[in-house]
Amino acid sequence: MSENSQVQLTQSPITTGPSSLIPDMSSWREQWLSALNDPSGFWLDKTKNLLDWAQAPSLGCEGDFWSVQQEPIRWFADGRLNVSVNCVDRHLETRADQAAIIWEADEPGQNVTWTYRDLHEQVCRAANVLTDLGVSAGDRVIIYMGMVPHAAVAMLACARIGAAHSVVFGGFSAEALRDRIIDCGARVVITQDEGRRGGRAVALKSVVDEALSSPEAQVDKVLVYKRTHADLAWDESRDVDWESACSQVSAQHEAQAFAAEHPLFILYTSGSTGRPKGLMHTSGGYLTYTTFTHRAVFDLREGDVYGCVADVGWITGHSYIVYGPLSNGTTTVMFESTPLYPDAGRYWSLVEQHKVNIFYTAPTAIRALAAMGDEFVTKYDLSSLRVLGTVGEPINPEAWEWYYNVVGQGKCALVDTWWQTETGGISLSPLAGVTPTQAGAATLPLPGIQPVLLSPESHLIHGPGEGRLCLNMPWPGQARTVWGDHERFVKTYFSDFPGRYFTGDGCRRDEFGHHWITGRVDDVLNVSGHRMGTAEFEAALITDELVAEAAVVGFPHPVKGQGVCAYLVLRSEDQSFGALSDEILARLQAVVRARIGVHAKLDRTIRIPGLPKTRSGKVMRRILRKVAEGETKALGDVSTLADSAVVEAIIEAASKA
Ligand code: WTA
Repeated sequence: MSENSQVQLTQSPITTGPSSLIPDMSSWREQWLSALNDPSGFWLDKTKNLLDWAQAPSLGCEGDFWSVQQEPIRWFADGRLNVSVNCVDRHLETRADQAAIIWEADEPGQNVTWTYRDLHEQVCRAANVLTDLGVSAGDRVIIYMGMVPHAAVAMLACARIGAAHSVVFGGFSAEALRDRIIDCGARVVITQDEGRRGGRAVALKSVVDEALSSPEAQVDKVLVYKRTHADLAWDESRDVDWESACSQVSAQHEAQAFAAEHPLFILYTSGSTGRPKGLMHTSGGYLTYTTFTHRAVFDLREGDVYGCVADVGWITGHSYIVYGPLSNGTTTVMFESTPLYPDAGRYWSLVEQHKVNIFYTAPTAIRALAAMGDEFVTKYDLSSLRVLGTVGEPINPEAWEWYYNVVGQGKCALVDTWWQTETGGISLSPLAGVTPTQAGAATLPLPGIQPVLLSPESHLIHGPGEGRLCLNMPWPGQARTVWGDHERFVKTYFSDFPGRYFTGDGCRRDEFGHHWITGRVDDVLNVSGHRMGTAEFEAALITDELVAEAAVVGFPHPVKGQGVCAYLVLRSEDQSFGALSDEILARLQAVVRARIGVHAKLDRTIRIPGLPKTRSGKVMRRILRKVAEGETKALGDVSTLADSAVVEAIIEAASKA
């Protein structure tokens, strides 16, 4: 008997609303089968109901996971639409005075509401400014901002004129930003003077200046929104003030429709190599999928206030702060601060103040807040809440229970949503008000998603079991390619299991057919819901002349989910292994911060005499992972190591660090 057969399914404490897209389990079954049997027919029907097309598509999906090698998959290729018009203009007739964005600033109590009419004016002005700056359809624009509504405006203004945006999370370093500016060939950077987070200023414009000081990273213009009005270096020939530029252009903008496969954005994410990859999403399929999933998963209702506290720098912010919610004409909250500022009640004060109905966050925040005590939650009136969501990493059952019982008081549906930058939108998840859940399970696939589990030898696993999670058929929201490197796209996602999309995740399926994500099976780390490559850390560390070799692995961390553990071989006379000196540690922390960003931090460092390598020179990461988890005995077969004595030395060093 598997451990799960004792588990009870939790029935949803709520039922679905009148506008539900999938009102009950039989409808889910019917729609899932219909999307499986006729994906093109299913999604053509959905998109015509969900979006406003200037020219409705007659073509559904073209291509499959075999032909993706030759050319990217296409959806709705003969259709034309404008994504920004779908997110803004089409709501003016019925909801011009409804709040589109509620911005909650870092400073408690400071917030600003923009109606759809306000948003329309802002987006039109910004589109006109970008056009005046020489940006046109097909160009790329980098957005390096904090959580201000102007970031959403910048995205929608790019979409409006057909320029692809690439939002770079505001914590990335100047080097990381420079690499992305070069890789996508950006014409313009949109930034702000400074961000605010947790009572502190976050440098943004000065980081852009540093990134652009490199001769390879040249852009025509830098558009700067002044959030804090801090003193700034200003290049008159390049820098443009957002407010003053916007005040000088028309508040109207006639939007043109673009082909469904016109690029919408590029979003860089970490993979197995040191070089981040720019996943490219296109317009019609992406917007169809995010609009559909946002409505179906959260059981979105007319008048809902929806609060997702992610950052626009990650895919969650793209799909479920900006595109999905605005396309659905809902009120979306943008939150500039942190869950702990000024104290651990900040999220719940936000919910009380804005009467948030749907709240979406990451397990790492839930774990951190649960550890602070229930009083921070119970002192607020959370009766507006109806649906709670999590995303970004597996949620442990304890955190799930706390979220469900303490935050939701047992009265809210809780949806654990699994998806990726690559999938564009939620792919496995309970549907609020519909799917019976279990604490920690991402449960069942959305229509259009056909998950399969495979053994490392490519055997299909039927029924309950564990394996590598692949998706078997195309869906409209999936990334089409890696910007400038289609070969890398094919190699990364379609070569391990030919004919299927490989997610990089491990997964267990139980006897209810529910999916439990077990974490990455590749060299991607998930630290506090931030996706980072071990290779990125290694590439950063070996730039320091003190470091001869470095190997980085993840290890279980009670709050962050995974912590970063670096094994280091140093060039030094001193032969003491184990912990690093404070001075060297600080130096290496500074190196990863400078190369990657403020969110990159070494949680554990172990100085070792040598890495465990096979005779062919390959590092046996399995051993390093096990030792980082505290294992000293069951390390598996070490007979292929060139020098098996090194294992003892590593275990000893780890015991001292
Ligand atoms: C992990 C974030 C378990 C997973 C939307 C995936 C999850 C990676 C969940 C993608 C979840 C995301 N349960 N694991 N509900 N959601 N993940 O691209 O390992 O930043 O492959 O997209 O996060 O991270 P990304």
